[in-house]
Amino acid sequence: MSRQQEKLIVAMPKGRIFEEAADLLRRAGVNLPPEFEDSRKLIIPVPEAGMDFILAKPTDVPTYVEYGVADIGVVGKDVLLEEDRDVYELLDLNISKCKMAVAGLPDWKDDGNQPRVATKFPRIASKFFREKGQQVEVIKLNGSIELAPIIGLADRIVDIVSTGQTLKENGLVVHEEILPISTRLIANRVSYRMKSEAIDYVYQKFASVVEKKED
Ligand code: PRP
Repeated sequence: MSRQQEKLIVAMPKGRIFEEAADLLRRAGVNLPPEFEDSRKLIIPVPEAGMDFILAKPTDVPTYVEYGVADIGVVGKDVLLEEDRDVYELLDLNISKCKMAVAGLPDWKDDGNQPRVATKFPRIASKFFREKGQQVEVIKLNGSIELAPIIGLADRIVDIVSTGQTLKENGLVVHEEILPISTRLIANRVSYRMKSEAIDYVYQKFASVVEKKED
């Protein structure tokens, strides 16, 4: 990718999306340094691409972009829906695909009592059950969600299912699928106007490799 006139600050999510996103960036022509994936540095300038990368906790990526300290960001649709920040969603990058689902023990039955639902995604879970007209008590957890139905904290969970291995190894099954999830390119609303040329250039580059992947 050739040098842009205006430097872009790009928020990248550390964790499960990171390697696939870095791979996509390289395929889009961004010459990332070899140590990009291993470095403990949180700000990584790539001057020849006209970009500085900030490495953030995934749930914080939309916050950095909404406040404009990052011009664009790479984030999962799950986080985007849950954080509900005021950003532009530019492009489905079509990577790190998984689904958001309701899961629980295979023999779980609705006994008429208000079920408890454990999740890292209380906004998504509440909306899903509200739209179905089902009253539930949502319990926010921060990880290892699959524990909740096994030890009796909750009746069901709302969580990401990727390979399905975590559910399987813990004796749980998908009850209902909520929505498919993939990684998105987002932009700050002001940057999108003020740095439109640079952002559009990056958008086009990404769009070309995403399309190729879909062939
Ligand atoms: C996610 C998710 C599931 C698991 C699903 O957890 O919350 O637990 O991955 O992946 P699988 O279907 O491929 O097994 P994560 O690894 O982010 O850990 P955490 O929820 O415990 O933080």
